[in-house]
Amino acid sequence: MDKRIYLDNSATTPVAAEVLAAMTPYFCEAYGNASSLHASGRVAREAIEEGRVEIAAALGVSPSEIVFTSGATEANNLAIIGIAFAHRDKGHIITSKIEHHSVLHPCQWLEDQGYEVTTLDVDATGQIDLSQLKDAIREDTFLVSIMAGNNEIGTLQPVEEISTICRERGAAFHTDAVQAYGKVQLPMGSIDLLSVSAHKLHGPKGVGFLMVRKAVALTPLFHGGGHEGGRRSGTENTPGIVGLAAASSLAFKEMEETTARMRRFKRRLIAAINAIPGTRLNGHETDSLPHIVNVSFQGIEGESLVMKLDEHGIETSTGSACSSPTLEPSYVLLAIGVPISMAHGSLRISTGRQTTEQDVDTFLDILPRVVEELRAISPFKVGE
Ligand SMILES: Cc1ncc(COP(=O)(O)O)c(C=O)c1O
Repeated sequence: MDKRIYLDNSATTPVAAEVLAAMTPYFCEAYGNASSLHASGRVAREAIEEGRVEIAAALGVSPSEIVFTSGATEANNLAIIGIAFAHRDKGHIITSKIEHHSVLHPCQWLEDQGYEVTTLDVDATGQIDLSQLKDAIREDTFLVSIMAGNNEIGTLQPVEEISTICRERGAAFHTDAVQAYGKVQLPMGSIDLLSVSAHKLHGPKGVGFLMVRKAVALTPLFHGGGHEGGRRSGTENTPGIVGLAAASSLAFKEMEETTARMRRFKRRLIAAINAIPGTRLNGHETDSLPHIVNVSFQGIEGESLVMKLDEHGIETSTGSACSSPTLEPSYVLLAIGVPISMAHGSLRISTGRQTTEQDVDTFLDILPRVVEELRAISPFKVGE
């Protein structure tokens, strides 16, 4: 493939060379099953437990509080359904309108099983209203699940304040930290459960973890050999876990430098995009993840923009659910009050560890031309 400019790092990231090097021996050499008693098995077990210790140390939690999973979709399902099943007497869950589907759908599924779910609104920047949370929380609320940083618009939630309210009212607090982990400091002392995915931080796909405090009762979703302290059965993905731990260490080691660079790119992107007429920045201006910029362009379709940029070798994404046959605009953008026409014209640009100044220059050179070309053939005129 020709050199492409990859600005879709919220969707997934390339595996870092250091991460691949750490994983490689665990495919064909140290391939033992970590549950086996022989030497190969012991080597695999050691690698997994070292990874667990590394991740736990970075978070300041106990290694026994890390449960490896197949990614964040599973971690979110385990957190939400696992806690709900430990509260068989049913009860109440609180979440927000802009959560990832891997949080919203298990909540909706639990609602079908007889649990009650309150879905909080968000303001025009994407943040929840703490007083609405205080009013919504009840005696029987066993879980509040609010993401740390949003994957479409980048808005950060006031995690510490949310946690204080949960603590006062005796509800467990889960946060989907897929986009925030390794990018911003998280107040770990305030979090009871946290979901992470390796492929968003230059690690491999198909592996992640759920951090779950010892005091939290959790019913497993997978039943079998009793792996992961009985909380997640299934032979451990040794290369994946080694890769996850290596990616996590790399992210923390480079966090200051990488996020400073990403913030600089973000400021440049926002300033240049603001100079294009008929645009709107979606998300919070300051309480925001460093790597995500979401913007709407009046008079054009996000999908056409993504396709045109792709023709120029630039890979981005749109906020609209382009996989959906109805081409519904993004529920996240609608929740923050973006008008439907503007929600259809949204573009998400997300940088990564490998993004260079040159990539941003090239993108900013091509973008205004592509927007102009698309607007020239659009039936909607800017300003109408
Ligand atoms: C915020 C958020 N949560 C959860 C997920 C799901 O992660 P995984 O791909 O590991 O299942 C994603 C990935 O798109 C995400 O961005």
